[in-house]
Amino acid sequence: MCGIVGVLGDHEAAPLLVEALKRLEYRGYDSAGIATIHDGKLKRRRAVGKLVNLSDLLVHDPLAGKAGIGHTRWATHGAPTTGNAHPHRAGPVAVVHNGIIENFRELRAEMAGEGIEFQTETDTETVALLTHHYIEQGDSPREAVQKTLSRLDGAFALCFLFDGEDDLLIAARKGSPLAIGHGDGEMYVGSDAIALAPMTTRITYLEEGDWAVITRNSVEIRDADGQQVYRPIKTVNIDSTRIEKGGHKHFMAKEIAEQPTVLGEAIEHYITADGNAITLPDAGIDFTKFDRITMVACGTAYLACLTAKYWFEQVARLPVEVDVASEFRYREPPIPARTLALFVSQSGETADTLAALRYCQGKADMIVSVVNVPESSIARESDLALPILAGTEIGVASTKAFTCQLAVMATLALKAATDKGALDDQTLATHLATLRTLPGLLSLAINTGPEVKAIARKLAEAQDVLFLGRGAMFPLALEGALKLKEISYIHAEGYASGELKHGPIALIDKSMPVVVMAPRDALFDKTVSNMQEVMARGGKVLLISDSAGIREAGQGAWETLAMPSVDALFAPILYAVPAQLLAYHTAIAKGTDVDQPRNLAKSVTVE
Ligand code: AGP
Repeated sequence: MCGIVGVLGDHEAAPLLVEALKRLEYRGYDSAGIATIHDGKLKRRRAVGKLVNLSDLLVHDPLAGKAGIGHTRWATHGAPTTGNAHPHRAGPVAVVHNGIIENFRELRAEMAGEGIEFQTETDTETVALLTHHYIEQGDSPREAVQKTLSRLDGAFALCFLFDGEDDLLIAARKGSPLAIGHGDGEMYVGSDAIALAPMTTRITYLEEGDWAVITRNSVEIRDADGQQVYRPIKTVNIDSTRIEKGGHKHFMAKEIAEQPTVLGEAIEHYITADGNAITLPDAGIDFTKFDRITMVACGTAYLACLTAKYWFEQVARLPVEVDVASEFRYREPPIPARTLALFVSQSGETADTLAALRYCQGKADMIVSVVNVPESSIARESDLALPILAGTEIGVASTKAFTCQLAVMATLALKAATDKGALDDQTLATHLATLRTLPGLLSLAINTGPEVKAIARKLAEAQDVLFLGRGAMFPLALEGALKLKEISYIHAEGYASGELKHGPIALIDKSMPVVVMAPRDALFDKTVSNMQEVMARGGKVLLISDSAGIREAGQGAWETLAMPSVDALFAPILYAVPAQLLAYHTAIAKGTDVDQPRNLAKSVTVE
């Protein structure tokens, strides 16, 4: 996901732009650039790779000027090269872009037919050229941008800067978030409030289709129809302690360590003070109105939904379908009456999940989202948005958001069970009391870090790893595999233990570690049988269980890792920790970029 910043300031813009871009690094990128206006002249500096390369360039070839725009690019159309880096320029126009212009090929063909030449392979250059084209026809920057926006299909956040205009930015939002920061005689634009935090906490979020003409002393916002609209200025305090590493080597390590705290906050947020009931915001959810739930998400959020399926079906007896958003949105499934559609997303901006939500609008009886960013697009387009209160998650590999998503959905499942009469008050109170013990148990699990580190050094030598789990631990096996592959680049697969004999057992040999995630629950003996089938064929098993499980089945295992004992129902929340730690320490052993793994972005706002 790209990052956008803009500054109309009283100070040199370049340092502010680079500092703001640093706060957007977590989104993932492979090149960066800025442009400023100085003495009426627009100039650019761009560099491939990390922001430090752009900073080096600016030391040797500085950019003056108090108005500017900046960008971190996660390559979609066109390789990560200096030429493809933003800002893109055409004549007096410079623009930075997050998203995809889906009709850029038609626009390029149209402009090529008029003899306009292209310098890059990017869709964004098309935006600059089209705006320049309208300016050449006599339009003002505002008119030219308005006409250009009306020609663009797809998802975009844009910020424009113009030669000769050192008190003008034009920003536009359609499908990718964009915020305006209000300073004292200064104005800013940013992809999110995190980027703008050092400069201001007074933030206006543009709505879908909005575009804004910004000067140091004015903001004029218009909607897609060109009507002037008002958008509120909110005070957004980004807790800076939560966007610094806090003494940890990586954001991922910090966010793993934060889980007991933020999980406790998430759980308490949804339980009444007396601890005996569940409380939801606004009008809440009356589950007696629904006969089914359809859940849609991507990546780790999808695996949180797969886990929650077991809780809703086992405790609330409510059928649940779970889909990855990229499949759901194009399969266009029928949505029967009395369906609750639930969307889970840490960022609240994942393009496929947002598209799936929009597919359900007007079809599902209620649209609920479980998000970490309350002002995100997915939250705003839901009938009810449930915050997970994980705090800003910077590491690309999702950790604390996952366990908080699980906790919120566990309370929802208990609420559903209560509404449906499947749970009496006493049992509900017992489950809630169990949930409240989880933060302490996660602390104990996090303390196994040194043991995991020793195992990870051996795991780092593997080419392939298999994760196995049964019941609600099957999605945890999938999550363990996803964590490992996305930050250590080791190929890993998650499988339902019972499926081993239906193919994967052919893979077993002494070179492939098999991670078995198995608390001592009702399915433990079944999983032990699978584990023994693996060991009988020379397979190396890492058994992650509680002490009783390891005592009973750990003999002969390659490695074992003991977790605290936990009520089987909520074991998946606890067992997320060893999955995270195993991936983290293996990635460290492999020397990969833990917080910004190659090719990945923190939030995938493009298809
Ligand atoms: C998980 O570790 C990944 N970073 C990725 O799968 C992520 O969960 C997915 O892209 C969904 O993101 P979202 O929760 O912001 O929608």
